[in-house]
Amino acid sequence: MLNVNEIERHDYDVIIIGAGGAGLRAAIECSNHGLTTGIICKSLLGKAHTVMAEGGMAAALGYKDKRDNWKIHFRDTMFGGKFLNNSRMAQLHAQQAPERVKELEDWGAVFDRLNDGLISQRNFGGHYYPRLAHVGDRTGLELIRTLQDKTVHSPGVKVHMECTVLDLLKDGDRVAGAIGYWKETGRFVLFTAKAVVLATGSIGKSWRITSNSWESTGDGVALAYEAGAELLDMEFTQFHPTGMVWPPSVRGTLVTEGVRGDGGVLLNNKGERFMFNYIPDNYKERTAADAAEADRWLNGDEKARRPPELLTRDVVARAINAEVKAGRGSPHGGAFLDIANKRPAEFIRKRLPSMYHQFKELAELDITREPMEVGPTMHYAMGGVRVDPETQMSRVPGLFAAGEVSGGMHGANRLGGNSLSDLIVFGKLAGDGAAAYVKACPALALDEAQVMRSVRRATDILNRESGENPYAIHEALMDMMQANVGIIRIKHELEKAVEEIAKLKARATSVKAHGATQYNAGWHEALDLRNLLIVSESVARHALLREESRGGHTREDFPGDATNKEWAKWNIVTRKGADGQMECEKIPHDPTPPELQAILDAKPEELEG
Ligand code: FUM
Repeated sequence: MLNVNEIERHDYDVIIIGAGGAGLRAAIECSNHGLTTGIICKSLLGKAHTVMAEGGMAAALGYKDKRDNWKIHFRDTMFGGKFLNNSRMAQLHAQQAPERVKELEDWGAVFDRLNDGLISQRNFGGHYYPRLAHVGDRTGLELIRTLQDKTVHSPGVKVHMECTVLDLLKDGDRVAGAIGYWKETGRFVLFTAKAVVLATGSIGKSWRITSNSWESTGDGVALAYEAGAELLDMEFTQFHPTGMVWPPSVRGTLVTEGVRGDGGVLLNNKGERFMFNYIPDNYKERTAADAAEADRWLNGDEKARRPPELLTRDVVARAINAEVKAGRGSPHGGAFLDIANKRPAEFIRKRLPSMYHQFKELAELDITREPMEVGPTMHYAMGGVRVDPETQMSRVPGLFAAGEVSGGMHGANRLGGNSLSDLIVFGKLAGDGAAAYVKACPALALDEAQVMRSVRRATDILNRESGENPYAIHEALMDMMQANVGIIRIKHELEKAVEEIAKLKARATSVKAHGATQYNAGWHEALDLRNLLIVSESVARHALLREESRGGHTREDFPGDATNKEWAKWNIVTRKGADGQMECEKIPHDPTPPELQAILDAKPEELEG
């Protein structure tokens, strides 16, 4: 058996797990505070899933429409989240996003421009004013490129690529580092640090149809859970309304909301703009009830009411789902998304270059001539690690979380474009929080027994004589979650999901990977299973507990979106119990302070800047 002293070791003030927008922004801030910082990423630097947020980054810059300001952005975010958001997080986000976007520009991000030279801002669902700073439909890519360049020039920061973290290490209650392995060699590696920032992104790989990439196995959520942190609001999963539905090889791939933001409309197989039939009562004032009004908006009259295709994602995803169920879907089980008949070809190619190429290459379809076929795809987790809004620290001292891996900011449903801004606002705050914590933290000790337990858990998978195939378990999980914990949920299916997850967990205890440690994809898959199953169990249990429909969580047996006043008072948390079993509990939702409540009670026009 390996001795802990034989394991490669790196000592830092802070380690950051994940190199997407939140992780890189946190690293830059740690460097600004003079800390040594190790970034650990499962993939190559620059290949983060952040690039899949395409349409833009929401910030009330007020460039496209001077009436916009942080209060209206805050209000939109809370309305979109059906008021279950942590209001302080939503406030900090709305207030700080403009500064963070300007900072990116200073660091070299080349945003699209308005005629007067200011950053262009595009419309997106649920945003009252055009608010998304963007780079065509490749905004996430530009964000990553800019932060990557800044990071590698930040003193004290080192990046460890193709390295997967197995477990967090603790000294008493405090987090003290992490143990992981290099994907290439399978050798173990130790990182010690006084603070750990989780920035691992999403959980989508528990579902069959997802826009998420292979890394999105919920690692950060599971690492935090195992280390004693609480998970918040896991029932709220966002099914982005527009993923590709055809061909099967690319099913789920994101079709940016920017298509609708730039004028694309949704049609059923009768050619009807069905979204007019799905305008919720509380949006009627803001959303057009007829096509003529929507067309006025499309033709540049920003005072006209907005088209119903720009309702929040939960509403649009449910509408597409309902049209398909009613037999009015497109040939491959989605809806038609048509921008060809609304905008000139040159405009489409300029504003949506990735979509143009994506459909040309993957579906042999020219979106400047024909409508796309689209349908809901698991895209985002509103829930995640419960953190303090000011510092981003979890209830485990020294353990921070930023970006999608954290919960609270988006409530029951996230507005498109609020993800990229979330990453840079809370990435910075996590860096600040970690720096303050590190400066006050005493020296920590390494617990060798914890390290060796983790190593043993990993090597057992290779060393047992025989066992379950990890791919078979993952395949079964994805189908089961898609069928039972999907866009529309119901009690008996959620109960079935909890039972099936228990069976999959039992099978996973005897999982076997063949071969040695060198670049062993089967072993990596087997190691990811623990995380996938923790996340899935938490989502299913929360979804069963929340007996109402709200935002991204729709219960067929409790219809009416966000109409249940009693449930509006509760969040749900998951934690690991003393007996090792998962515990889920209702906790009171933090009340919104009066000065923020006044913003929610006002009409947007009364808040214009
Ligand atoms: O549709 C999109 O471009 C996705 C953006 C987001 O999730 O924020």
